[in-house]
Parts: sequence; C-alpha cells; structure tokens
Amino acid sequence: MTIRSGDKANITKAARSLRLGGLVAFPTETVYGLGADATQDTAIAQIYALKERPALNPLIVHVGRPDWVAGLATPDGRFDALTRAFWPGPLTLILRRRADSPIGAAVSAGLDTIAVRQPNHPVAAALLTHVKRPLAAPSANPSGQVSPTTAKHVFDDFGDRLNFILDGGPCTTGIESTVLDLTATTARILRAGVVGVDALEKVIGSVTPPDIVQAQEMEGSISSPGQLEKHYSPSLPVRLNAQRAIEDEALIGFGKTPRATLNLSPTGNLDEAAASLFAALRSLDDPKRFRGIAIVPIPTLGVGQAINDRLLRASKGR
Ligand code: TXA
Ligand code: MG
Repeated sequence: MTIRSGDKANITKAARSLRLGGLVAFPTETVYGLGADATQDTAIAQIYALKERPALNPLIVHVGRPDWVAGLATPDGRFDALTRAFWPGPLTLILRRRADSPIGAAVSAGLDTIAVRQPNHPVAAALLTHVKRPLAAPSANPSGQVSPTTAKHVFDDFGDRLNFILDGGPCTTGIESTVLDLTATTARILRAGVVGVDALEKVIGSVTPPDIVQAQEMEGSISSPGQLEKHYSPSLPVRLNAQRAIEDEALIGFGKTPRATLNLSPTGNLDEAAASLFAALRSLDDPKRFRGIAIVPIPTLGVGQAINDRLLRASKGR
C-alpha cells in the first residue's frame, strides 16, 4: 500500500527514503507535494520524469525554517519581513541563487534563482525536521493537470509508480501558494494565491499584481517560468460564469445555486470554496457521467482572485 498515515514512524521512514534519493508525496496546507532531496540531482530528475514536467519549469524548495535559506540563496530585508509575517504559510519567494548553493541546478531549471517556501502543515514540518535537507516539491500531479488535495488524489494520479504517500488529511487551503519574485526592484506576483497583493503591500510596500493576460502571451517563455503552468486542467471542458448546466454538463455551485451537482460553499464562503475546488473538479471529471463542467461566477474578492485564476486556466483546456 502506497498511502501511509502521517504518524511518527512513517515520517521517520519517509525521511530515510528521501535521504536515499527516493520520492515521497507529502501533505502541505496548500496541496500535496511530490518531494525529493533538493540537493540530489538523480532524485530531482525522478520528479521531472514521474510528472512528465517540462525541463524548463523550475521547482519550489521547501525548508524547515527561514534560516535554512541563507545557505541556498540570497535573502534580503524584504525576505526577512515577509517570512516573519507569512511563514510558515502559502507564500513562495523567488531569490537569487548563491554561487555555492547546494541545490541541484535542475531545481532552478537553468535559472539563477531559487523559489523557497516553509509549508504550514505538521506532517510537512516534521518531515523537514527529520530529513534536515531542503525538499524540492512540485504539486503531486502529472504536469498540467489538477493539483491533489488528498492522499487519495495522489494515488489516483500515480498508483504504484509512487511507493510512498504520507497521508495528512485533506489540505485546508486547497490552492497552491502565492509565488512572489523578489529579484526585481518592485516585487512581482508570478502566481496568485491566498496571500494577496494588499497583505503583501502592508509588509513591503509596492507589489506588481499578477497579470493573467500577459501570462498567457508569455507561455513558453523562460523569462517568466512562474507563469508557465497554465492549465490545471480536467479532461472535460470547463465553462465559466455559467447560470445553469446545459444538457449533460455537471454544475459547480457557490452560495445559493439551484440544481448544482456539487456546491463549493453553500454559504458563499470563499475560503471554503478554495479548499474544495480541486476535489470538485476531480470528482466531476468523469466522461461517463458528464460532457463538461460548468461553474457559476465566483466573486473576485480576496482568495476569489486565486480561485478565478485557476478556473480561467482550467477552462483553457490542454
Ligand atoms: O503550494 C505550493 O506552492 C505547492 C506545494 C506543494 O508547496 N507547490 C507547487 O509547486 O504548487 P508547482 O511546481 O506545482 O508550482 C511551482 C510554481 C511553478 O509555476 C514554477 O514555475 C514556479 O513556481 N517557480 C518555481 N521556481 C521558480 C523560479 N526560480 N522562478 C520563477 N518561478 C518559479
Ligand atoms: Mg503544480
């Protein structure tokens, strides 16, 4: 059985496996990650192979504490302020690599930068503490598909090709971390997440918001890898801003939606909607039951922005 409960004994086993160069899927507060020791090139290569991820799409390095970062990259004053405010949590920071960084070059996909994040989940924290090494971990799904928010989602995607999945229950945030590029003079959001522009600006001043239109135009460009992963796509077509289902569509509701197949949050709570979004897309992505997935409009307030970002990408198809 590949899914193992995230208890102490299994965390110790997982840590040993990671040190030996193995892959372990583990829970974070955002989505499940597919982890490998970020300092071992062969382990990192396995991540790209299993996900069928394009070699030019870099990975996030997960750390157990903010002070691990100084040995890997070049943190500045903004890094200190942001990590005090938001770590552990769903904020990934892009920094310049140190020339002597032990992080594998493939993690950065040829760039001179590194993405770092301290996850806020007890199982992830315990795992990092045991491994004592930074872990490269993209979302644990085949490239371009919907991210996993339960251990079962990871198993559904990889089956026996992955022999270690630590189960930490359903992810509470449910949407991938905000990716913020600190290498520019004005910090720039490369991927929207629950940590929004307003919250960031309170800590470091002016921040450039994510630009979805530009992200689409730049597809394939290595200068903006944070925007590369476009699709988050189910196999069925996704139709946005629907009022009702047409023919054989499934309908995802929010708030008071009549005849919804599934409702992200009957009370209209955006945090709840974010936490249930990927599970909803996965469970309705069944060509035997439906021809497509329609979804009602979701307000763009707060985390609603990140939800709409993922939905727009999902609707672009593969
Ligand atoms: O919440 C999350 O961030 C989850 C959990 C597991 O931590 N991870 C995740 O990883 O979503 P992934 O690989 O699915 O998405 C990482 C994003 C990609 O868009 C990638 O291009 C960007 O971060 N990224 C990573 N390193 C980068 C770098 N050096 N420069 C710019 N973008 C980078
Ligand atoms: Mg991903």
